[in-house]
Amino acid sequence: MDEREIRLRTSRRRLFLKAAIGTGIGVSLVSAFYVGASLRPKVVVTPDKEPLKPGDILVFAQGGGQGKPIRPEDLKPGDPFILAYPMDPKTQVVKSGEAKNTLLVVRYPPEELSPETAEHAVDGIVAYSAVCTHLGCIVSQWVADKGAALCPCHGGTFDLKTGARIVAGPPPRPIPQLPLKVEGGVLVAAGEFLGPVGVQASAGSCRLV
Ligand code: FES
Repeated sequence: MDEREIRLRTSRRRLFLKAAIGTGIGVSLVSAFYVGASLRPKVVVTPDKEPLKPGDILVFAQGGGQGKPIRPEDLKPGDPFILAYPMDPKTQVVKSGEAKNTLLVVRYPPEELSPETAEHAVDGIVAYSAVCTHLGCIVSQWVADKGAALCPCHGGTFDLKTGARIVAGPPPRPIPQLPLKVEGGVLVAAGEFLGPVGVQASAGSCRLV
């Protein structure tokens, strides 16, 4: 073997070693990625945390009738709103595990609703997301003299007769309406919410009052 051939063989051996080391690092990184991915806790959405879907039945969220489907005759014009949750009509699971599923349901004389609001109401009954668009509190109080809904956190007040128009406080936009229908004598979601539910990223710049 002459000197040239020895140099050639040595340089081939070095190249082979470099490639082997490089491949080893690559395989290790890929393995680490998969090990890391498998260790990451999986987010499991249990049936009670599923988002509201069209066709869900509205049920009472609290009180003696908790979990019972809401019938139009359960609601009288002038009464305060009630809080409700959607229920999967097939599994009968009440989706109360996700705050964004909390709803306000109230009945007005139909002629008091704005035309746009009446379009998604049934016999004067309207439903909205109960999650305040300001900082995400639950809109939980009734303002009897205005027939409006009040968020206790910073006084956001929504006129539910006119698409939850903001009449007081800092919320940046109305709570979204949920279209309704009656099926089998009970209130049912007739579609998706007519806007995003809860706090949106841009609301982060809102000042607390
Ligand atoms: S969270 Fe409702 S007004 Fe602030």
